[in-house]
Amino acid sequence: METSKPHPPPDSLAKTAHVSSEQQYEDMYKQSIAEPEKFWGDIASAFHWKKRWSQPVTRSNFDMNKGPIKIEWFIGAETNLCYNAVDRHVKNGLGGKVAFLYEGNDIGPGSQMTYGEVLEHVCKLANYLKSIGIGKGSDVTIYMPMIPELPIAMLACARIGAVHSVVFAGFSAESLAGRILDSRPTVILTCSGVKRGPKALSLKGIVDEGLQKAVDGGHKVTHCLVYHHRDCMPQSEVPWTTDRDSWWHDCVDGQAATCDVTWLDAEAPLFKLYTSGSTGKPKGVQHSQAGYMIGAATTFKYVFDYQEKDVYWCTADCGWITGHSYVTYGPMLHAATQVIFEGVPTYPTAARIWGIVDKYQVSLLYTAPTAIRSLMAKGNEIVKKASRKSLRILGTVGEPINVEAWKWYNEVVGDGRCPIVDTWWQTETGAHMITPLPGATPLKPGSATKPFFGVVPAVLNENGKELEGPAEGYLVIKQAWPSMLRTLAGDQERFEKTYFEHFKGYYFTGDGCRRDEDGYYWLTGRVDDVINVSGHRIGTAEVEGALTTCHLCTEAAVVPMEHPIKGQGIYAFVSLMEGHSYPPDEKVRQELISTVRRVIGPIATPDKIHWAPGLPKTRSGKIMRRILRKIANREEDSLGDISTLADPSVVEVLLSFRDK
Ligand code: WTA
Repeated sequence: METSKPHPPPDSLAKTAHVSSEQQYEDMYKQSIAEPEKFWGDIASAFHWKKRWSQPVTRSNFDMNKGPIKIEWFIGAETNLCYNAVDRHVKNGLGGKVAFLYEGNDIGPGSQMTYGEVLEHVCKLANYLKSIGIGKGSDVTIYMPMIPELPIAMLACARIGAVHSVVFAGFSAESLAGRILDSRPTVILTCSGVKRGPKALSLKGIVDEGLQKAVDGGHKVTHCLVYHHRDCMPQSEVPWTTDRDSWWHDCVDGQAATCDVTWLDAEAPLFKLYTSGSTGKPKGVQHSQAGYMIGAATTFKYVFDYQEKDVYWCTADCGWITGHSYVTYGPMLHAATQVIFEGVPTYPTAARIWGIVDKYQVSLLYTAPTAIRSLMAKGNEIVKKASRKSLRILGTVGEPINVEAWKWYNEVVGDGRCPIVDTWWQTETGAHMITPLPGATPLKPGSATKPFFGVVPAVLNENGKELEGPAEGYLVIKQAWPSMLRTLAGDQERFEKTYFEHFKGYYFTGDGCRRDEDGYYWLTGRVDDVINVSGHRIGTAEVEGALTTCHLCTEAAVVPMEHPIKGQGIYAFVSLMEGHSYPPDEKVRQELISTVRRVIGPIATPDKIHWAPGLPKTRSGKIMRRILRKIANREEDSLGDISTLADPSVVEVLLSFRDK
């Protein structure tokens, strides 16, 4: 824990920041809680509404005993996110402002797209979607790399009321199929291929396999629209199914460049985004229109202290919530100019990220601790060679940031000039929840600091009792905020069970935290069976399920391990089918690993396979993960009581297979 004095906001922000003192933050925070109707009503008035709300806020109930959990904001209003993120700016004379500074995977000249051009592209795609029968409430799956057409595709859906489900284009065919089978779209928008670092991937090949698996599972996608990425294979080599597939360029480019907006109820669904939970298959977190719009836009403005001249760059992919809220929606709702980067920050060298910062004069940079740690490992020289003078504010998201990485980001990357906003939030929360405001909050390295406007956190002990003052326990939220999820797609029961059953009357985050004597929050990681790998959520049950599909494996137990770059890694204990001796041939390990990559995707690749002739189980057959976690993290000196195991001797056997 950091004991030195907090870092105060830089003087340069005192005059210009939207919130420029602790007192101003406190006042605004208090008002957001005491008078939410006025607070959010005033903010929302700056946006375009086809019809105004009759009531901005309902006192939503988080207690299942008092009836179903139903969240509503801006009741009775009608709006459209695409209109607010694009048309509104063009109408206000900002059509010539650059929206996207696109930088491809390979170093090159890059290209630009203005808000006026974005509007045309969005309208053409929306017209195509309408021509194949897509409209209000239709599901659309998007499986694309980080090119400008990805946010364009999301906005085209939003324009006509279609519900997008973006699947990160690093997920396997099987994961894609699972998501398609859950949301059952008639159309998928995709891309011929992508180059990620030195590797070229045929995305269309993966999509073909995914669509076939979906057919086998009982759902046929009838339209597959393919954007041709010129950096990849020639068009003639892209695998093709004539009666289903169409080229984007053939179908979209010739469409009319205007398209009427479909006005939508404030609570109509905007998108689904699948994320891992502690059990079962990934769940479709569903967000709605108006509340999400106001949440994403308001946090973007205050947390990055966004000013008109800023050049913003978020390194996240739109396949994750960070790319939804802080690439597509938040920045565009403010007509921000942003970098869209298709590659990886360390390709071709670790200088790439700083080269892009200088090339586009990036002032707001938002990235993840895992990226910071991997860049830090390459040394300071590379960073120092770049000017970085344009940088003003640095952001981080995805996992707790360790103090060492925080200091390096602050001192080396930001030359000690740039406040760091460590933003804690989740797919479910839609927008930042606990975060500093750069002009107002004194920073403590490693702490996400204080709640954003309208957010009321609490710390509970395991009995669900609220703890006062400095305390450590489970992080929960006490009342509804505008951008919170509304349900899990098609499964209200799972929604209520997952978030509102643990502690009656509270939204359960799944995270542990500590609150210090200054009321600062320090996130301590997931308390459920979710592993946070490089800031991405992977369910232990998903990896176990993938391992057991391999014919070699009878049983698997997966736990998090500490990892110097990824934050957490995936540690898998594996028991093999009868007839194998331990340790088995190296080929067995390779086959297990490739099975997980095939079933989920490379992000779920186990970092370690530990052979387990037996697993530590209670007499009732439950695996004692506590023991496995200790073994994975080399803490076997503190295994605790193992006498309740059905067979305590398995522990010794397990330990004998470490590093084998
Ligand atoms: C973790 C990503 C500590 C946390 C936006 C949360 C963090 C999960 C932080 C959500 C942070 C995210 N400090 N932990 N600043 N940001 N997390 O849904 O465990 O992909 O529950 O959303 O990431 O991950 P998700």
